[in-house]
Amino acid sequence: LDDPAADPFEVARQAAADIARITGVPRHDIALTLGSGWGRAAELIGETTATIPATDVTGFSKPALEGHVGTLRSVLTPGGKRVLVIGARTHYYEGHGTRRVVHSVRTAAATGATTMVLTNGAGGIKPEWSPGQPVLISDHINLTADSPLEGATFVDLTDLYSARLRDIARSIDPTLDEGVYTQFRGPHYETPAEVRMARTLGGDIVGMSTALEAIAARQAGMEILGFSLITNLAAGIQETPLSHAEVIEAGREAEPVISALLARVIEAL
Ligand code: 6GU
Repeated sequence: LDDPAADPFEVARQAAADIARITGVPRHDIALTLGSGWGRAAELIGETTATIPATDVTGFSKPALEGHVGTLRSVLTPGGKRVLVIGARTHYYEGHGTRRVVHSVRTAAATGATTMVLTNGAGGIKPEWSPGQPVLISDHINLTADSPLEGATFVDLTDLYSARLRDIARSIDPTLDEGVYTQFRGPHYETPAEVRMARTLGGDIVGMSTALEAIAARQAGMEILGFSLITNLAAGIQETPLSHAEVIEAGREAEPVISALLARVIEAL
């Protein structure tokens, strides 16, 4: 993937072939990327029939961070859906470029998945939100100044986070609020002034993932559902300083509840 002459879609097809061979599952229906706090979902969605280290699959990098498990799993839901659970996210702030960031999404599409569920742990800008609360992503603002698309590839991003899928999620939990996800490069958290900027621009959530992945998923023709776990309020919205430990702890506490929600939503898709 680091060779500019390599075709990232061909690498994704190789990765999908690796997954089919190692898991024995030729096709997946849905792909699910697990962000901070969402890790237990895999166990609740159904029966894991194979767990593989992501590094056994072509093009996947080593996980950089605690709280991000570097595995891919094939899960069979009680309703018979095949879910590829991606616990191996490469973040843009790792500096390996957008091809690495979206490789799992392109691989998911190459396994046959037509629905991409993207989850993350993120900061909330809306003061009425509380840590531990899951929210639907209604749209995004990509502040990385980068794109996973190369060359003259003009892709429409209207209804990027499918209104149809958000309706299905709300049919499971009518209390789900939604908001606009703003992807910053990170890995530092934003300043209070940057959070005010994001709010002025129309953002409700601040994070360091998801938007670039959603763009690649749309390019691949997938329908996208996005969830953020609000692990903390953003800088200047909450008074106390932000810490990675706080983010991980909020995720741990919310994990059983939001994972159960996610399992029910997946079965309803
Ligand atoms: Cl406040 N900002 C960003 N960019 N990512 C986060 C966060 C904040 N809280 C959790 N993840």
